[in-house]
Amino acid sequence: MDEEIRLDPWGHIAIKDYERLQKVFGIKPLRPLLPRMRDPIHLFRRGVVFGHRDYDKILDALERGERVALVTGFMPSGRFHFGHKMIVDQLIYYQKLGFELFIPLADAEAYAVRRIPRERVIDYALNQYVANFIALGLDKKRVHIYFQTNYDTKYYRLIQMFSRRITMSEMEAIYGELEPGKVVAALTQAADILHPQLDYFGGYRYIVVPVGADQDPHIRLTRDIADRATEFKFERPASTYHRFMTGLDGGKMSSSRPEFAIFLDDPVEEAVRKLKRALTGGRPTVEEQRRLGGIPERCAVYEFFLYHLVPDDEELLSIYTRCRRGELLCGEDKDYAAQLLEKWLTEHQRRLEKARSRVEEYVEPPDF
Ligand code: TRP
Repeated sequence: MDEEIRLDPWGHIAIKDYERLQKVFGIKPLRPLLPRMRDPIHLFRRGVVFGHRDYDKILDALERGERVALVTGFMPSGRFHFGHKMIVDQLIYYQKLGFELFIPLADAEAYAVRRIPRERVIDYALNQYVANFIALGLDKKRVHIYFQTNYDTKYYRLIQMFSRRITMSEMEAIYGELEPGKVVAALTQAADILHPQLDYFGGYRYIVVPVGADQDPHIRLTRDIADRATEFKFERPASTYHRFMTGLDGGKMSSSRPEFAIFLDDPVEEAVRKLKRALTGGRPTVEEQRRLGGIPERCAVYEFFLYHLVPDDEELLSIYTRCRRGELLCGEDKDYAAQLLEKWLTEHQRRLEKARSRVEEYVEPPDF
């Protein structure tokens, strides 16, 4: 019998078994759609974004020249690290393709579910998240960044109307044990995802939601609500799913485990020091590694190359093969990664410094 698995969007586990996710939940592989995508960035080419629901409908809409939008949210519950950067890289790709972007800052969710004080949530949202969006190159045009607690009346009306479209036991089947804060957070997220379909917000029929696989429960709930809230004639939102970066010790990369994540505002020497201590796919001895080769699939440093540091596919492949053949050892590999990281971070932090004074051009902070 198939062992039951339930995704927990509020859990803290690393999701390892992506293939089972596809089988059990009906998430489809993205790879077959790649040839239809315009200039897919490395994250798509390399399978970091691995799955989807209804993404083919987004591609159809693009081919017909229709207007398209994207929604994805960030929970400002800590500092901004390289796992978050990967999502912003996708946002910038879509923005260049002409998508309208809606980016909720999930301060209501962080407050209710993670129990983080308001002032800290707001500070993280502005000085960590939005500042990094700007420094990474998100354009101010065609983007709506908002706090979940500080948006438009019509958005809140959706949350209230959606509450009638789902029962407690259906929600428990999706999420497991619930509490009121989580119910509100889930319905709020449904409003985040569906509100751009209202004429008032642009009337976008084709919406894609790029998220980590842990967010799929919210996607399933939202798609059900879209069908049931018949007065609106909503289209079901499409979604894509990305793998998470693992932490430097092979566990989950999370701001609550700062020694195993690299933050975009870490002092450069500290970032390099963390990277140099990272778990690699190396063998216990140099002799063995020369003989058997390393295992890049298990290497946190290789992951940095793949997600962030080596944009060129051929160079990445050469690092991969030289490691597998035992030609490239971890020491040399780490030195190279450190060099690239140092250069990238130094330049980014110059931009970040300037970006911090510009956040209020992008978003209006709540007054309490
Ligand atoms: N729940 C998401 C998280 O934990 C944040 C989020 C809020 C979100 N609203 C959203 C994600 C809408 C996608 C779409 O990070």
